[in-house]
Amino acid sequence: MQDAVPASQISHAPLVGVIGMPIAHSRSPRLHAHWLARYGLPGHYMPLPVMPEHLAEVLRILPRAGFVGANVTIPHKEAVLTLADTVTDRAALIGAANTLIFRPDGKIHADNTDGYGFIANLRQHAPDWQPDRGPAALIGAGGAARAVVASLLDSGVRELRIANRTRLRAEQIKAEFGARLVVYDWAQVGHMLEGATTVVNATSLGMEGKQPLRVPLDALLPGALVTDLVYTPLMTPFLAEAQARGCQVVDGLGMLLHQAAPGFERWFGQRPEVDDEARRIALG
Ligand code: ATR
Repeated sequence: MQDAVPASQISHAPLVGVIGMPIAHSRSPRLHAHWLARYGLPGHYMPLPVMPEHLAEVLRILPRAGFVGANVTIPHKEAVLTLADTVTDRAALIGAANTLIFRPDGKIHADNTDGYGFIANLRQHAPDWQPDRGPAALIGAGGAARAVVASLLDSGVRELRIANRTRLRAEQIKAEFGARLVVYDWAQVGHMLEGATTVVNATSLGMEGKQPLRVPLDALLPGALVTDLVYTPLMTPFLAEAQARGCQVVDGLGMLLHQAAPGFERWFGQRPEVDDEARRIALG
């Protein structure tokens, strides 16, 4: 018979996972592993493939199994709101959470750091960017777009134009986020870009294996800040064309890196640096 492991030898290193389905291609485990090694911290961060019908049970079990929190990704970002005990105002407003904290009292706290990651990426790579200098134009109205809307409004954007293939989703965002939003028809995206000083692609178009985002860019202001949430490839056809027209472009990888930092700090006690090394690691 095997001897029981003495309690003193059981690892109490904090455990964290990223919950999603599929999850094998997530870049978060290697990013967090890099930060743990870099700061010499005890802890483990692992991919957790979870089917929607098992989400509630998994969230009950993880805190009892030594987990101090989790990231949440597709398709669970909305469902976790109903399973958490407390939800931050911004996660409630966005309608999705990506970061969970399992408290010592067993309660689950849900937050959304995607909007923070979006803005932190722009601040890092375009330090002169002024959100209130002119209208912002957002292409797309899915889950990721909602985090962008919340953060742009927070940053002081005075007019936020939005167009989506399914117009109703853009109308819903306007209904929830208010008067600073102006909805454009999908066919009018080119027109929506006139005079915009900040332009964001929040659709999945341009991603490897998908069609490129095809919108007329003639109205783009040279000098406008243009960013894409798609980061595979880093330089999407949309960003390449905007750059050729004299725009300042920022790729979407930094949003992924920056959204991870607040969670890492909460779970492992150290604010990690988002630098070239972290970028290289996440790119793999
Ligand atoms: P995410 O959480 O990544 O935002 P999502 O909620 O599925 O994912 O949203 C995907 C976005 O890409 C939506 O704005 C979607 O437009 P619809 O709301 O009309 O579906 C947009 N999108 C995806 N494929 C598209 C396509 N072929 N043409 C135009 N927009 C597309």
